[in-house]
Amino acid sequence: MERIEWTADLNLGIDVIDSQHRNIVDYINQLTEAIETQQDHEVLSVLEQLASYTIDHFVFEEELLEKAGYMEQEDHSELHRKFESKVYAMMTDFVSGSDPFSIARRTRNFLQMWLISHIRKEDAKYVPSVKKVIGRQQGWIESALKRIFGNADNNEDVYESPYQA
Ligand SMILES: [Fe+2]
Repeated sequence: MERIEWTADLNLGIDVIDSQHRNIVDYINQLTEAIETQQDHEVLSVLEQLASYTIDHFVFEEELLEKAGYMEQEDHSELHRKFESKVYAMMTDFVSGSDPFSIARRTRNFLQMWLISHIRKEDAKYVPSVKKVIGRQQGWIESALKRIFGNADNNEDVYESPYQA
């Protein structure tokens, strides 16, 4: 199975969001690896981490969009909610399913397709609004990252403040 390569066109030019998107892509690639090595516990564990990280990312993104006064924030959040219910449905299938690997493969394909097209089409639309305010939101960003992502393993990869040497 192919790994997703992070390509320049996936960068929105908003570092804090780009880092989170990259982490999601890393999780998808880890899921591919777990499927290939046929470890069902590992598949479920990566799937759970991926779902939980993605949901934290959505919370962060939605709060940022609100800070930015993005006009389509509600529609954007609605897309996130739809995605979440799909992920929950697949996790339920996975837990009760007879062939964990085929469910995991379907989940992975869905995540990959959805996330990449979401970043390119939907996230791309909020870039101008967010870029206008991001410079004034550094304090908020740092505290929101701690509050939302807590002590997640990947937390230090989430964001590097441009104000730190
Ligand atoms: Fe989004």
